[in-house]
Amino acid sequence: MTDRKVMKVLRGETVFPPPIWMMRQAGRYLPEYREVRKNAGTFLDLCYSPDLAVEVTLQPIRRFGFDAAILFSDILVVPHALGRDLRFEEGRGPLMTPIDKDGIFWLESAGAADRLEPVYETVRLLRQQLPAETTLLGFCGAPWTVATYMIAGHGTPDQAPARLFAYREPEAFRKLLNELSDVSAEYLIRQINAGADAVQIFDSWSGVLDEACFEEFCIAPVEKIVRKVRAVHPNVPIIGFPKGAGALYTNYRQRTGVTALGLDWTVPLSMASSLQGDGAVQGNLDPLRVVAGGKAIDAGVDAILESLGHGPLIFNLGHGITPDAPVSHVEQMINRVRLTHR
Ligand code: CP3
Repeated sequence: MTDRKVMKVLRGETVFPPPIWMMRQAGRYLPEYREVRKNAGTFLDLCYSPDLAVEVTLQPIRRFGFDAAILFSDILVVPHALGRDLRFEEGRGPLMTPIDKDGIFWLESAGAADRLEPVYETVRLLRQQLPAETTLLGFCGAPWTVATYMIAGHGTPDQAPARLFAYREPEAFRKLLNELSDVSAEYLIRQINAGADAVQIFDSWSGVLDEACFEEFCIAPVEKIVRKVRAVHPNVPIIGFPKGAGALYTNYRQRTGVTALGLDWTVPLSMASSLQGDGAVQGNLDPLRVVAGGKAIDAGVDAILESLGHGPLIFNLGHGITPDAPVSHVEQMINRVRLTHR
């Protein structure tokens, strides 16, 4: 445990070269993932089959030796466990029946965390099979981001349906965020019970909110999750990733209580460096630099190491790796990080 570099950094130590993993590291850019995916049935079958989920989680660890493995699942298994329908369509992403006011009052909260048992089994198996030095990360979606998919029924560029719903039906919307916070906290606690070393809360859509809504829909629910998880597991690090939060990143850590901050690629490195004064940061290479390769990777990596390498840093992308990223470019990025000397 003491040798897990990601854990050291999460506890505030500086490790150089920094430990590295990538959001969406198990995914379609890997031929071995596409092979398993092809034979697995639906995407949800893959998420709920522990043996297959373990296999795809391990693939990027075997290939690249990343310092952290992230449980293979999806943020939308939580609404699925609450009784909402969910399917994933090739090229369209997740599809759900949009929830309305009544639907929110009929969510099947009782027993929801129990219905995610296959995920905990995946975590248990992973902890047995991962190398001792590899950190195992659990995760959930933040309530706001999960709610955006539940309300629109699919991905949208600006989350207009969820924003409008929140303005028009504030009471029902607050109830939805509350229910999601409660199940998500329980879900993370059980992942930690099963062997996750740390957890990440993905708020991929925080960037579309004004300041007041960011406070109420992003900060408050995540603070509630952190408080509940800490009541059971006071020492387990929690990474918050409020993607696109811009200037609102500033006191997100203090307000929510998260241990570390995941930074998207638009966060200026000068700001990232001052955020590092309060603890670990994770990020923040533009995923498209990995698609482009060559100098785009080298210059991006060098700038991050130069600005953030002197403090607690977990090297990562600023969002998930895209399916069109060549494996050789991922190797180039990893080598650039690992072979840099100071
Ligand atoms: O390797 C990992 O990072 C672990 C697995 C993981 C997945 N989704 C697998 C996945 C994680 C951590 C997620 C989180 C997730 N899921 C988020 C938050 C992070 C982010 O990317 O913003 C969100 C918003 C979702 C919802 C979701 N799932 C969308 C919008 C999509 C479609 C987009 C796409 O890339 O196709 C998914 C599908 C999904 N989740 C895939 C994977 C590997 C691709 C589907 C497939 O393989 O068929």
